[in-house]
Amino acid sequence: MPRQGSWSVYIHFPWCLKRCAYCDFATAVSLHIPREAYLQAILTELQMRTHDLQPAPIATVYFGGGTPSLWGPEPVGQVLSWLDRWGGLAQGAEITLEANPGAAEEGNLRGYLAAGINRISLGVQALDDRRLALLDRVHDAAAARKTLALLGQWVASGQLISASADLLYGAPDQDQLRLSADVDGVLGHGLPHLSAYALTVEEGTPLATRVERGLQTPPDDDLQMTMLSQMPALVGKHGLERYEVSNFAKPGHRSRHNLVYWTGGHYLAAGVGAHGFLPSDQGEFRYGNTRQHREYLGALGPDRASSLVLPEVLREHVTPQMRLPELLLTGLRLDDGLDLRTVERDCGSAGLHELLRRVELAKSRGFELETQGHFLRVAATATERLDAVIRELA
Ligand SMILES: C[S@@+](CC[C@H](N)C(=O)[O-])C[C@H]1O[C@@H](n2cnc3c(N)ncnc32)[C@H](O)[C@@H]1O
Ligand code: SF4
Repeated sequence: MPRQGSWSVYIHFPWCLKRCAYCDFATAVSLHIPREAYLQAILTELQMRTHDLQPAPIATVYFGGGTPSLWGPEPVGQVLSWLDRWGGLAQGAEITLEANPGAAEEGNLRGYLAAGINRISLGVQALDDRRLALLDRVHDAAAARKTLALLGQWVASGQLISASADLLYGAPDQDQLRLSADVDGVLGHGLPHLSAYALTVEEGTPLATRVERGLQTPPDDDLQMTMLSQMPALVGKHGLERYEVSNFAKPGHRSRHNLVYWTGGHYLAAGVGAHGFLPSDQGEFRYGNTRQHREYLGALGPDRASSLVLPEVLREHVTPQMRLPELLLTGLRLDDGLDLRTVERDCGSAGLHELLRRVELAKSRGFELETQGHFLRVAATATERLDAVIRELA
């Protein structure tokens, strides 16, 4: 039985129109997307993974990618119908689709709403054509503004329960003024949620090659830290507040799905490169699927040659010793902090006592930690030192 009494489900859709210069995610670029075969494979995986699970209402579903807005409303609706038949979509369930401007023109988005999507997360990344081109994004700023305006209207009229946009900060040629313009440009349309990520240079990406060859300047760590510390004030003008290091929301608009990850909840995941965290009779385990779409379809798709086997590249039992670093890593990024009752539940009272001992030691060494009720928090002024705090306590 899920300990939340309800399930959260992540579905990964790996295809994109073009690979962005910085992206290291499980993605595939193709104009010929096997939409129907992928739907069959996802439904087969869900069938296999839920075999040993107790059905319970599904509180959140998240279609991530890749670019799941390229899949089409029909397969997305079929996945939702399957989930509804299995555990039932809970009343007021949060059902998110990641969409890219350009891949998400109005008619298509309306189709997703009809299929059951009630929250859209739009990959804007920047509202500046030069920077979008440097990042190799498919869309331009005008396309992003058009979709943002639509999402703002749909939230205001209640056609969506919420909407979010992703922005990258610290990209080449972005200064603090341009960050402020991007934030105002996105939130000016009335979006109640924003995710802002520091651009990182991932090994093996075209961006990494350009940086190695001196064709592009790498992001400046100090500038990114400054930008991070400015975010609460920039979003505050629009009525949003930070609730996680990279995430900001108006009251009532925090991402319920992501909060399941960040507060140590279980979740079922399916698709290429998807990672899940589930209970079993032998204890909790994590799993991860192959990042190769051909291998995934070969194992679970309608044309598979052999008997059904989950295409996992990772399966590990999660011990109480493994849990503490994981809980610290996500919990201390939350403004509410890490719930110490979760530490006790997952690591036992011995684990909790050991953590509290380390907290006292860290405080005596100058780390700004505070406990409020059941929560352990990093002081707002010390967010920039979060990694060091986590290393100290893990
Ligand atoms: C993998 S994307 C999927 C969503 C969608 N395809 C898009 O591009 O917006 C999810 C988010 O991860 C973030 N991301 C991906 N690569 C990143 C990188 N190298 N540095 C920082 N953020 C990154 C982007 O902000 C992106 O919106
Ligand atoms: S659209 Fe998103 S997932 Fe696809 S390559 Fe670009 S950043 Fe990666």
